[in-house]
Amino acid sequence: MTIEAAALPPAIYGVATSSYQIEGATDVDGRGDSIWDTFGRVPGNVVGGDTGETGCDHYHRLSEDLDLLAWLGVDSYRFSIAWPRVLPDGERVESRGLAFYDRLVDGLLDRGIRPLATLYHWDLPQALETAGGWASRETVERFATYARVVAEHLGDRVGDWSTLNEPWCSAFLGYDVGVHAPGVRDPARAIAATHHLLLAHGRGTRVLRDVLGPDASIGLVINPAPVRPASDAAEDVEVVALADGMRNRVWTDPVFRGVYPDDVLAAWEPLADLAALHRDGDLDEIAAPVDVLGINYYTPLYVGARAAGHEGASPAGPGQDHVVELSGPPPASAMGWSIDPTGLYDLLTRLDADYDVPMAITETGGAFPDAPDEDGRVDDTDRIAYLDGHLEEFARAARDGVDLRAFYVWTLLDNFEWAEGYRRTFGIVRVDRDTMRRIPKRSAYWYRDLLAARTVRPTG
Ligand code: FCB
Repeated sequence: MTIEAAALPPAIYGVATSSYQIEGATDVDGRGDSIWDTFGRVPGNVVGGDTGETGCDHYHRLSEDLDLLAWLGVDSYRFSIAWPRVLPDGERVESRGLAFYDRLVDGLLDRGIRPLATLYHWDLPQALETAGGWASRETVERFATYARVVAEHLGDRVGDWSTLNEPWCSAFLGYDVGVHAPGVRDPARAIAATHHLLLAHGRGTRVLRDVLGPDASIGLVINPAPVRPASDAAEDVEVVALADGMRNRVWTDPVFRGVYPDDVLAAWEPLADLAALHRDGDLDEIAAPVDVLGINYYTPLYVGARAAGHEGASPAGPGQDHVVELSGPPPASAMGWSIDPTGLYDLLTRLDADYDVPMAITETGGAFPDAPDEDGRVDDTDRIAYLDGHLEEFARAARDGVDLRAFYVWTLLDNFEWAEGYRRTFGIVRVDRDTMRRIPKRSAYWYRDLLAARTVRPTG
């Protein structure tokens, strides 16, 4: 039994992708290197030595992919813009890069699909990383310039915007743990990156508002998680609060309240020169009003105390070595992530209670084994169950009064899953890696039928 169309809350339904994961064509039309191009060239950084060089060849198959979106019947498509296509060295504007996004946006509008553009989904121009990357305050200025160039170019046709996608990953996976580009392992730089990403969001929001006016919808996309203790033992329960601060409140408190959480600041104090980093006026900029908070949700975060005998890595957080990230209870997706749709409900109701902000699910979905049959088709009932469960909890949160505006499935196409390369597939459409042929999985037909069965459609 899966969710009925009539049970879906009135909202925008769509699918999401990101530039580096699907576009390919990394050296075409003047595009510069991004940090993911550089990172992927280092053996050992990405499983199987995979890179985004080919991606899904979306750059060259744009109209086919637009037709696929139209076939799915989505209301909206969430994509990201590749900064190094638009400003290859971080400074010079490349009009051929902008022209690609003209074709994308115009193609969506021609098909009646509403574009949601994300400015930064992790592909920082390498030239800016060489100059210090997100650990440098200068990158904030560069981001503001980039935001203005893109908004001035596409703002007449795109009304929905996000500044950043999952800054937690950029800051902690990129600069603390080093498993994502740029592969740095330096807690002080991760703390600096956190601040500069927040500031880039705030300044970018101001630029977007200035260029686009009051009618545009502007937001930030984060990947918060409900944090759960590994056991009922007091030591395990005690570390939940700090892990919550590092994963969740460090983004939402500055953006919605204009303050950093005290417990996080205390953990960072010994590791970084916070007085030099956090300048007067920064928090006011970071707290620029936003219209919607984008939530990417896949799994709860389970933590325990090292002192209680748990071993493993800290859940990415400078100053929390005593906290250990643990795997959650089964079942799990192919990523090893515990599947728990109730976590989505818990998260949405909590964020609603604490911050009272309209929200959108900007990503949810699952990687599954996806063995194709002899015709290349994938009968992914596991993915349908995953999406169905999360839609049910989305609907329950809406019924309980949470202001929910949209739901986007991650993702349209099997693509370059960052450090996991192409081996982890999240798509509702399979991409044959030899031929690049797109083959909708059973989940694509399921989502299409569900959307088509709605009697109430979003307006405006
Ligand atoms: C999110 C990313 C997205 C994708 C999914 C599986 O963290 O935003 O690009 O990789 O995870």
